Amino acid sequence: MRRSLSGIQPSGKLHIGNYFGAVRQYIALQEECDAFYFIADYHAMTTVTNPDEMAANCHDVAAGLVALGLDPEKATLFRQSDVPEVAELTWLLSVVTPVGLMERCHAYKDKVAQGTVASMGLFGYPILMAADILIYDSNVVPVGQDQKQHLEVTRDIAGSFNFQYDSEVFILPEPYILPDVAVVPGLDGRKMSKSYGNVIEIFGDAKETEKRIKRMKTDSTPVEEPKDPDTCSVFALFRLMASADEREEMAKRYREGGVGYGDVKKRIVELFFETFCEARERRQELESNPEMLREIYAEGGRRARAKAREVLERAREAAGIGRGL
Ligand code: TYM
Repeated sequence: MRRSLSGIQPSGKLHIGNYFGAVRQYIALQEECDAFYFIADYHAMTTVTNPDEMAANCHDVAAGLVALGLDPEKATLFRQSDVPEVAELTWLLSVVTPVGLMERCHAYKDKVAQGTVASMGLFGYPILMAADILIYDSNVVPVGQDQKQHLEVTRDIAGSFNFQYDSEVFILPEPYILPDVAVVPGLDGRKMSKSYGNVIEIFGDAKETEKRIKRMKTDSTPVEEPKDPDTCSVFALFRLMASADEREEMAKRYREGGVGYGDVKKRIVELFFETFCEARERRQELESNPEMLREIYAEGGRRARAKAREVLERAREAAGIGRGL
């Protein structure tokens, strides 16, 4: 059976960009793949420096994923740092990774431009990500568009290692990116991202969520004038959650004129609560049973670690590490 694998950083609260861009695909793939999904706490260390915040975020994201529909009976759910083998593999991969490959990575350049300290951890972030993927013999990696380059780098690194040691140690993974939701826009039309402050949190306070949606900036085109659905950030959010029929109908009304932004925003609020109502309730229930959540992730960690040990051993063997004495 093919393995699907993905990770999500505990660097803040889950938002609908995470959901439509990635988590919904995790859930679909758990039905047909041997699915591995993890909380990327080692990666989050590059931006989250407060240990209590790290712990709280890990709990939050872990609970959120289960509430949204990741099923521990079908998928292996775990925390990245419960498999420390991944840090060793990062080293083995680092020695076959050219510095120039890292220098070309957009995510690093963007984060530094936004003021994140340019640590070696941030610079080598894609190598840790490659290790995450390769250590579980992953075939398919569901992600949003912003991770596409990291997947290409992963394939490059896997190829370099296999070539260097004349081996077939690593499987080259395929990204799984759905074009329609590859870049989910935020409240201001730019990509939805914690660092832009334009997110709709999935489990945020209901009143606050409604207020944020209704405060979205719009242009001053009068209600009766035709509008272009393809360039409107209100429509971009609406289309994520509306059915195909409703989407088409609304696009037609946009083009004909007669739609007020206020009405569309009201509909987005309704759709948001329809889409996430069940998950929000389940998230509340999980709060009363932290032991169950801990068990789910501990068990997942054990399973993931067993697989990781096997693949790491293959890599060590190929490189001649741990032999000769
Ligand atoms: P992270 O934590 O930033 O985001 C988690 C997932 O959500 C997707 N995403 C989006 N998709 C569409 N539109 C958006 N606005 C949007 N915002 C976020 C991301 O593409 C991602 O799939 N480096 C990864 C975590 C990671 C990982 C891995 C992923 C670590 N190791 C191994 C896959 C495989 C990250 O920072 O995702």
